Amino acid sequence: GLSELQVRPIAGALGAEVSGIRLSGDLDPQIFAELKVLLHKHKVIFIRGQVHLNDQEQEKFASLFGTPVPHPTVPSADGTSAILSIDSKRGNRADSWHSDVTFVPNYPKVTILRGVVVPPVGGDTVWANTTLAYETLPAPLKIFADNLRAIHSNAYDYAVSHRVASSPEALEYRRVFTATQFETEHPVVRIHPVTGERTLLLGHFVKKFVGLSQRDSRTILEFFQDHITNVDNTVRWQWKVGDVAIWDNQATQHRAVNDFGDEPRLLRRSTIEGEVPVGVDG
Ligand code: SIN
Repeated sequence: GLSELQVRPIAGALGAEVSGIRLSGDLDPQIFAELKVLLHKHKVIFIRGQVHLNDQEQEKFASLFGTPVPHPTVPSADGTSAILSIDSKRGNRADSWHSDVTFVPNYPKVTILRGVVVPPVGGDTVWANTTLAYETLPAPLKIFADNLRAIHSNAYDYAVSHRVASSPEALEYRRVFTATQFETEHPVVRIHPVTGERTLLLGHFVKKFVGLSQRDSRTILEFFQDHITNVDNTVRWQWKVGDVAIWDNQATQHRAVNDFGDEPRLLRRSTIEGEVPVGVDG
């Protein structure tokens, strides 16, 4: 049938606002199929005004995408089976570039994030397109990346990415986050299981590259991360309560902008189980 969805790209590199939809677990299968096409095309889609969603309804909607998975170390929000609370009051500011949970083998393919409490100013989220980042590498660096593998760990060095001393809440969040330590080796270039595109699989959980020293690993990671997170390769979203962002976690990185001081900021995150990455040589 004729779709009622309206789509408005909001940046050149990735990101589109979708309107004319009410998210729920009972979404019409045809509309849901269209939403998934838009997700893979735009990498991150935004739906405003979903104030009817509570945790239970979010979980039902999330399960349309596949199997919702709880965070491997941080307990799920009260009364939910697999929702992570991104709560500034609990020390979670998510303020360095990453794809979600890349320290496990089958890290999430899709993430859904709902704005519950948003600060009066600031606290935007920014996403970067890791597929376009691969495409825009010069040819010799594509070959270099194609042949590289990285070790991802949740015990990464937080000090590297934080410019100010951590609060007691942030230290406590980090303690819980790293209580069980995971290490997973992934190819740096992944074949996207849906689009078939090559995409860079990096982010702040990368501890080192296989066969490189810690020092060289740091330098090379910084090079790739600078390329991925170049502002020309990003989209930025200013949250309102009831906004929902859905992203292809296999084709993007993201971070929150930590510019909201002591104002509360609370988002609810669902992650959908992904597949073990396949590199360029299978
Ligand atoms: C996340 O890292 O999944 C959350 C991003 C945010 O808080 O904006």
